[in-house]
Amino acid sequence: MSKIGIFYGPELGSVEKVARVIEQKLGADKVELIAVKNADESTLNKFDKAIFGVSTIGKINWNSEHKDTDWDEFTTHFGKVNWNGKKIAMYGLGDHIQYPQHFVDALGWMYERLEGTGAEVVGFCATEGYTYEESEGIKDGQFLGLPIDEDNEADKTEVRAENWINRLVNEFGF
Ligand SMILES: Cc1cc2nc3c(=O)[nH]c(=O)nc-3n(C[C@H](O)[C@H](O)[C@H](O)COP(=O)(O)O)c2cc1C
Repeated sequence: MSKIGIFYGPELGSVEKVARVIEQKLGADKVELIAVKNADESTLNKFDKAIFGVSTIGKINWNSEHKDTDWDEFTTHFGKVNWNGKKIAMYGLGDHIQYPQHFVDALGWMYERLEGTGAEVVGFCATEGYTYEESEGIKDGQFLGLPIDEDNEADKTEVRAENWINRLVNEFGF
């Protein structure tokens, strides 16, 4: 069975912390953790199944031209990735108290970059149990990946991750 690549960025903060929670729940022998900062298309091409971990760092940043996050750089390689047959799931860090109108917008930003590549995006998540006003991370009434709020609801992370992974295992087909 091929491993699942958990691609995360940035390093050292909550995105990395949740990457390790997911690694532990999936089983360390089944996954490979990869900081996107150190990755390019050849790293991603090794995996049929991957999980992308992102954080939302502000509406203004996502809409602007500047390209200084690890994911901004990594997504410039997307045109060279062999997406056929790949399944991608996403989790997104956000803060629903400080940014209720842009909660986990980065899930939508990433989805836009995956749409039309040929990859199958899996791991959508029901909005029940989350408090927010608006989110670009929602499509057809579902979050496009797993939202996690370590700033305000760190106590919910374990259960949220576990429930999501239980469903994801089926969608990934292993
Ligand atoms: C400058 C800044 C802007 C942010 N903007 C948003 C936002 O628009 N929406 C949101 O849900 N969270 C927002 N957040 C919260 C972060 O996504 C959250 O703190 C996340 O856990 C950071 O992950 P990291 O520690 O791995 O960087 C913002 C945080 C900062 C510092």
